Amino acid sequence: MDKPTYTPITKRHIEKSTSSLAQKISIKNELRKISSETLQNEILRGLSAKQKYISSKFFYDRRGSELFEWITKLPEYYPTKTEKSILKEVGSKLFAPLQKIDLVELGSGDCSKISLVLDAIPLLNLKSLIYRPVDFSASAVNGATQLLNKRYPNLKIEGLVADFTQHLDSLPNGQPRVICFFGSTIGNFTPKQAQNLLSQIADKMKTGDQLIMGVDIVKDIPTIEAAYNDSQRITEAFNKNILNVVNKTIESDFSLINFKHRAFFNQEHERIEMHLVAKNDIAVKSNLSGQVIRMNAGETIHTENSYKYTENKIKELAYNSQLSVKDIFYDKNKWFALVQLVK
Ligand code: AVJ
Repeated sequence: MDKPTYTPITKRHIEKSTSSLAQKISIKNELRKISSETLQNEILRGLSAKQKYISSKFFYDRRGSELFEWITKLPEYYPTKTEKSILKEVGSKLFAPLQKIDLVELGSGDCSKISLVLDAIPLLNLKSLIYRPVDFSASAVNGATQLLNKRYPNLKIEGLVADFTQHLDSLPNGQPRVICFFGSTIGNFTPKQAQNLLSQIADKMKTGDQLIMGVDIVKDIPTIEAAYNDSQRITEAFNKNILNVVNKTIESDFSLINFKHRAFFNQEHERIEMHLVAKNDIAVKSNLSGQVIRMNAGETIHTENSYKYTENKIKELAYNSQLSVKDIFYDKNKWFALVQLVK
C-alpha cells in the first residue's frame, strides 16, 4: 500500500526522465518493501516507552523536508552554511581527481551539497561517474534526481529510497566508492549507534574507498541552542510536523496545538535534544492498533538527538569503526568538520 508520506514516483516522472536521455536516471525504492506494519510498530513502540520517543527519520515527509530546507537557510542555523563553506574550500582538492567511481550520498536531501562536489569535478571525469543519492524521503530523492539531471545532463544517477541503517546492501558492488555522509546526520545517532553504523559502512568499503563525513563540533552553548530555537520558529514547525507523520502512519489524531517545542543542549552527552512537551493531559487513540497513548501535562516525546563532536571523539569513533582518519578540514571558526576516512 502506498502511504502518502512516501511520495511514489509518478509514471510521468519515470517516462519523462528516461525517454529523453537514454536512461541516465533511475530510482529504486527499498522502503516500499518494508511493510507499513514495521513502520507503525516502530512508532507505537516509541510512544509506549517510559520516555516517549519518535525516531527522527520520521521528520522527513514532503512537508518535513521542505521545512528542513528552510531551516538550513535560517541565520541561526550555522551547520549547513558552515559545511558548505568548507566544501567550497576543499572541494576540488578532494573531488576533482575522482573518476570511474560510485559517488554515494547518504541522506542526500535536497542535493545542494552534492552540487558543490559535482561542480568541483571536471566534466570529463563526471562522465564515468555514477551518483547514488540515498534518502528516507522519496520526495527528496525524486526532486534531487530531476534537478541534477537538468543541471548535469551527462551524469548517471541511480537513486535509492531507503533507510541507510538497514539497506546498505542494496548499493551495487561496482566501481570504487566515495561515500558522502554530510550534514552531521551522524549526530542523530547515539555514540553506540554511530559506531554501529560506521562499522557497517566500513564493512562495505574496500581499500581505496573513502568516506567523507560532515560533523558538527562542540562550541559555545548559546550558539548551538539558538540554531534549534530560531526566531521565526521554523524549527518548532519542523518538530511538530513529526506528529502529522505519526498521525498518517498509525491513524491517530495528535493535535499539534497541544504541544510545545523544546530544544536544549544536554551538556553531559554533548547533544541537542528536541522534545515535544504536552501542554495538558492527553489521550490519543491509534485506529490501526486500537492502542491509546496517554500523556500527562509536561511529559515529553523525545524527537531528536543531535550530537556535537570534538576532534578526539571523531578519532575515537573512527578507530572503533575500523576506519582511519586521513584528514580533517575545518571552517575558520572550527564550528564544523569535514572528515576524510579511509579503510
Ligand atoms: C539533519 C540531523 C543534521 O541535527 O541539526 C535541524 C536536523 N533538527 N534542526 C540537525 C535538525 C532541527 C539536523 N540534521
